[in-house]
Amino acid sequence: MAAGREHFGSRFAVIMAMAGSAIGLGNIWRFPYMVGENGGAAFILVYILSSFLLSLPIFFSEAVIGRSTHANTFGAMRQLAPGTPWRWLGLLTILSPVIILSYYSVVGGWSVEYLLKSLALQFRTPEAAAGFGGFISSTWGPLVCHTVFLALCAAVILGGVKSGIEKFSKLTMPVLFVLIVLIMIYSLSLPGASEGVRYLVKPDFSKLTPSAVAAAMGQSFFSLSLGVGTILTYASYIHKDENLLVSGAGTAAFDLVFALLAGFAVMPAVFAAGIEPAAGPGLVFETLPHIFAKMGLASPWLSSGVAILFFITILVAALSSAISMFEVGVAYLVEEKGISRRTATLGLFAFAWTLGALCSLSFGPLSGFKLFGETLFSFCDKLTSNFLMTFGGLLFTLFVGWKMDKMRVRNELTNGGSLPMNGRLFGIIYFMIKWVAPVVIGIIFVTNLLL
Ligand code: PFF
Repeated sequence: MAAGREHFGSRFAVIMAMAGSAIGLGNIWRFPYMVGENGGAAFILVYILSSFLLSLPIFFSEAVIGRSTHANTFGAMRQLAPGTPWRWLGLLTILSPVIILSYYSVVGGWSVEYLLKSLALQFRTPEAAAGFGGFISSTWGPLVCHTVFLALCAAVILGGVKSGIEKFSKLTMPVLFVLIVLIMIYSLSLPGASEGVRYLVKPDFSKLTPSAVAAAMGQSFFSLSLGVGTILTYASYIHKDENLLVSGAGTAAFDLVFALLAGFAVMPAVFAAGIEPAAGPGLVFETLPHIFAKMGLASPWLSSGVAILFFITILVAALSSAISMFEVGVAYLVEEKGISRRTATLGLFAFAWTLGALCSLSFGPLSGFKLFGETLFSFCDKLTSNFLMTFGGLLFTLFVGWKMDKMRVRNELTNGGSLPMNGRLFGIIYFMIKWVAPVVIGIIFVTNLLL
């Protein structure tokens, strides 16, 4: 273990930090929409199954690599497979989170703008709610907000693992749950909300096409931040005596519960306002402000209050995820290149800021610039969520299942045999890592490649 390396202080800290990475924009705008589109409760069922049967094996693979080496992604692969091409996996999983961070920070920036707007009590008229397209395609406003968002991440990262990431996660995660529950209660109390509930819970197996199943799996990877080294890096800060199975299951459970709460916070309000649920960012930044404005006509203070709580929730959820992506690169630069945490943070800030700025401009002045037919923002999004995350997840499971010494994997998951885990449970998890996960993820990867 590297001298002076920091560790999370407790199990609670581990789960809060990992849940912080997992709970993000994916839970709030993507999950509710996908549930409705893909068969309601039928989709939720596949999502739960794939979270526990497929995503958890990848989670454990990353966690085993990270905790057994106590190193950054590149250092970990070098330690476990010196002189082999596996080090490229270490490098790939430094590049992927930085790319995600860049465009994620643009959306994080939008939430800064919308929080400020709601604090200025602007969502009281339908006109104020209509400006989303105009805002994101403008030049300076989104750039300033992207800068503010990334600077907030950098400030937490500069604090280090314990005083930065751990403190931030322990404070904000419980608050996030309280906020989303309050918003959900309000949303469910609106007249007409039951339509939205039905939209989420009615199982419609006819909509459960193969592509809906692949979407459920993809969403569960994205939501648990898998395949890009964030879980590996956070696991490298976990003490040897912590139970990885409990940390993994706890994180997956928090992530799932939060996604469900977000679904019940968003969709009933959408239906109560008589609006068709929209896809992606439009749902959060266009439809909801419209709803706040509609409610504002009847009760301006209440609707402004709910809008403020809602955009705080999005901002905090996005920040805690972005921080985990930031940390992957910082850990690499500090440990492999021997530079200070401060310099590493500034360097990554500069890189992610530049790529993010180009992504932001791709909604406006640079919208004509296309890569493989996509704007830069959507290219970075598709490249990472459709390819790099699944590819990384596939390689992590292959590495742990086929290359790593089985005894070492067992020792890591059972803490040297001291945990009360019977051989059968380990056998099942190992089988999932070695056979089931790589085959299914491989199929998803090839399908994404071909479609
Ligand atoms: N899990 C995050 C979300 O649901 O928004 C997204 C994410 C975070 C992806 C961290 C990748 C990552 F490394």
